[in-house]
Amino acid sequence: MENVGVLLVSYGSRAASIADALTRSENYKVTIFDADKQKNPFIYKRSKDIMLGLDVNKIGEFAKKHKDEIDFGIVGPEGPIIEGVRDIVEKEAGIPMICPTREFAIEGSKLSQRILLEKCCPRANPRFKVFDRKDYAGSTDDVRKDVFKWLDEFDNQVAVKPDLPATGKGVGVWGDHFNTREELFDHFMSIYNTGPVIIEEKIDGEEFSLQFFSDGKKLVPSPCVRDYKRAFDGDRGPNTGGMGCYKDAGDRLPFMDSRDLEEGLEIGRKIFRELKGDGSNPGLRGIPLYMAYTCAGDGLKVFEINSRLGDPEAQNIMPVIKDDFVDVCFDMVNGELKDIEFEPLATVVTYSVPMTYGGYRKKFTGSKRVDLTDVESLRDSYNGRLKVYPGSMELGDDGKTYTCSSRTVCCVGLGEDIATARKISLKGVTSIDGPLWNRWDIGSREHIEKSIRHVKRLRGSGPE
Ligand code: GLY
Repeated sequence: MENVGVLLVSYGSRAASIADALTRSENYKVTIFDADKQKNPFIYKRSKDIMLGLDVNKIGEFAKKHKDEIDFGIVGPEGPIIEGVRDIVEKEAGIPMICPTREFAIEGSKLSQRILLEKCCPRANPRFKVFDRKDYAGSTDDVRKDVFKWLDEFDNQVAVKPDLPATGKGVGVWGDHFNTREELFDHFMSIYNTGPVIIEEKIDGEEFSLQFFSDGKKLVPSPCVRDYKRAFDGDRGPNTGGMGCYKDAGDRLPFMDSRDLEEGLEIGRKIFRELKGDGSNPGLRGIPLYMAYTCAGDGLKVFEINSRLGDPEAQNIMPVIKDDFVDVCFDMVNGELKDIEFEPLATVVTYSVPMTYGGYRKKFTGSKRVDLTDVESLRDSYNGRLKVYPGSMELGDDGKTYTCSSRTVCCVGLGEDIATARKISLKGVTSIDGPLWNRWDIGSREHIEKSIRHVKRLRGSGPE
């Protein structure tokens, strides 16, 4: 077996799922060099060296220190991608990185995404308007007047979004986060002081994500997944980074029409062509597009574009990549990416999160100890059908594991259908020993049927 060294820029369960895909390789013996926000127990166990912190210059130094042992790098979280980790590591250490360059990290500006979409896929672009402090010379009355005038166009049915990434948390939606214009304007002002704000029409529909891999020449899709952003069952409570996610055994989801999948793929290809130009553009290597769509009454609308794998969306697809993932990585680096084959299995990801996450409890002063011994034994008895990926969790100096403040650990069930995968995922979650909670309805029949009915109501017909 050939030895391969990989620089993994990590944060959370998504990176654990990448580490798992790499170390599952049957063709290569993989050694990981981990740059991580904290000592993730899963990745730490599989790494030769680790640096803590995600400062891109320090990651450059860490890469340089190990440059003779590392063949390529791959990046999970958005922060370092937007801050140009690829540019720095490639320049400092000469290690090819799998993620877009700073210039092509289009996740960095929602406004640029809207402008790009207007150019190549206007039909999929919700109507939007930008409010920028520099146009108002500090006058709150003027901007309020213009905001309210824009709200008239949509009978208040809008989403208010900061230009800069805020992992969903700076986004406010009429009817969900505010019910009066004053409340909307308070939210608007809280982000307007930090940069431009976009107010766009609220799209009624069901969401799904489509993540694309690329070598800079070819764009290769992965199966569609559905994220659960709200904290509580029944899609109630505040937005979170995502409490769980499901994918079906095939490429699309039960509430989607075959035309939705085709349209989702076509929009991705058009954006890619627009960014790439003629020939190839290595700046787009990695996962240049993770498209977040809404299945609306009149087809698809794009509500967000990211330049990385999603979390938890990655955890749905990494366990079912049938090809050797190290070969896929080499193909991306060498500009030889082929179609990626996925196991025809459904996957359900359920996140276990700390007591105060999503406002579940105001305060929790108990122990933060999380013991994965039982769930890992269960995993070992499941023959690859249960994955346990620690996220915002760290290995303490005492050798025990503790939750940090964000999504702690996820359990991914793999099955012939969504119901089977969900059962396994929940069995995993209930075997975790720790002060954590979770949503119970990720991939539930009731939730999926509600999504199907919703799309049917909007379109007057069900999925074909
Ligand atoms: N699941 C949302 C995100 O990764 O941005």
